[in-house]
Amino acid sequence: MSFADALVYNLGYLVPYLLQGVFTDRRPWVYFWLAVHPDPGAVGFLGRMRDKHRSGIFWIRLGTRRSLIVLDREDVHRVLKLSPDVYQAGSFKREGMQLFQPNAVTISRGEAWQERRWFNEAVLDFHRSRHRYAAQFLSIVRDEVAIMSRSVRSLRSWDSYDRLFETITRRIVFGTAARDDAEVTRLLKRMLREANRLIKPRRSRYYDRFYARIRAYLDAAEPGSLAALCGQVPSTELTKVENQLPHWLFAMWQTLGTNVVRALALIAAHPDAEREVRREMAGVDLTTSEGIDRLAYLEGCVQEAMRLWPTTPLIFRETTVRDVLGGVEIPAKTPVLIPNSFNHRDRERVVTADRFSPRSWVDGEEHPLFHHLGGGAQVCAGKPLALFLAKAVLATLLDGRRFRLVRPSLGPSQRVPYAFNHFRVRFEVSPSEAAE
Ligand code: HEM
Repeated sequence: MSFADALVYNLGYLVPYLLQGVFTDRRPWVYFWLAVHPDPGAVGFLGRMRDKHRSGIFWIRLGTRRSLIVLDREDVHRVLKLSPDVYQAGSFKREGMQLFQPNAVTISRGEAWQERRWFNEAVLDFHRSRHRYAAQFLSIVRDEVAIMSRSVRSLRSWDSYDRLFETITRRIVFGTAARDDAEVTRLLKRMLREANRLIKPRRSRYYDRFYARIRAYLDAAEPGSLAALCGQVPSTELTKVENQLPHWLFAMWQTLGTNVVRALALIAAHPDAEREVRREMAGVDLTTSEGIDRLAYLEGCVQEAMRLWPTTPLIFRETTVRDVLGGVEIPAKTPVLIPNSFNHRDRERVVTADRFSPRSWVDGEEHPLFHHLGGGAQVCAGKPLALFLAKAVLATLLDGRRFRLVRPSLGPSQRVPYAFNHFRVRFEVSPSEAAE
């Protein structure tokens, strides 16, 4: 890319992305950029660059570093397939995560990654469609939604959903004893905020207090929790069990919570989809994990929320050795970027680019360019669990209640916008007949 184009990308897209927070949202910046920026994911810009250079791979200076942006399917696949050994996590992610989860699987490589990946998959039941504790997790969800909906007001806006996911997460990861331990979440949040900074502290002052709590929960693990499984699944010195838990906490609380509220907004704003969801829900027993598991169309709604507004808009990698991508030789230590926000909305390659289309997840094959849950070797280790929990929360909320989206504006007659500020969400909630 030319110097001028690179400047536009850096100032117009990368800086806003960093200001909004990479590890945890900075709410004022999210409000600001989403109010003034029509296309924060650079969909239009990267499309124009592809036309201009007739190429799906660009050299660009990101800050001071010569980097690659990769759009073509084969190149994206190569990067993800050879992760993390040839393409490791980018330096911003490694340095940020080092503060609150050194040794986490997602910033590991080689034998350490293999071992930690195996451990994560075993505890999260990655290879089963339903987690072995799915029934307990569903009853936690039903409990917490019932508590939350004692006041209809609390079903209307973001903050109560944030609290809902915070509580569900602590109960699933640590057990019921941790239900009201807001301190463990507060300490994590503080460290995530430190990780967001360009200049980070060398060591977090919250680290010791946070890990003292994690260790206490692991030592007194409650049966039926993920902490309990940590003691049952084989691990070694290299696994660094305690460093694997923070990822589960922030992904289940923040990432999952955001995506579920967005899916709820899309369903509420699309009457045809809502009808289909209700029809599907009427055909299963929502009080059983088997019933929740069978909600394929509802799962399509969740997948669509993540595709349309990926919570990982950019997958950042860095080469550890020399490699060749799309015929281009790239040296070691080159930053490589996969822009999900562009690839998911590219009208040239995605037929339903700007439409809410849950059915395509039920009927069709998974599109090779959709990586909101990552892909290749480092695909989200919590994928089946996250999808199950999303469906459990949505089905429980929708059962007997009707949600109308007041804001931000969405609807079947309009193109789905490039961004959705979930902090602004406002629902009107009324009782509904279950089988409408
Ligand atoms: C809807 C919610 C979620 C989304 C959108 C999501 C998304 C992602 C993405 C995009 C990655 C790949 C990152 C990369 O390659 O750089 C990833 C990795 C990962 N996710 Fe999730 N995730 C979600 C929920 C969860 C949950 C609930 C857990 C655990 C309980 C989890 C555990 C992990 C782990 C451990 C990895 C690292 C895998 C590795 O590096 O080998 N995720 N996730």
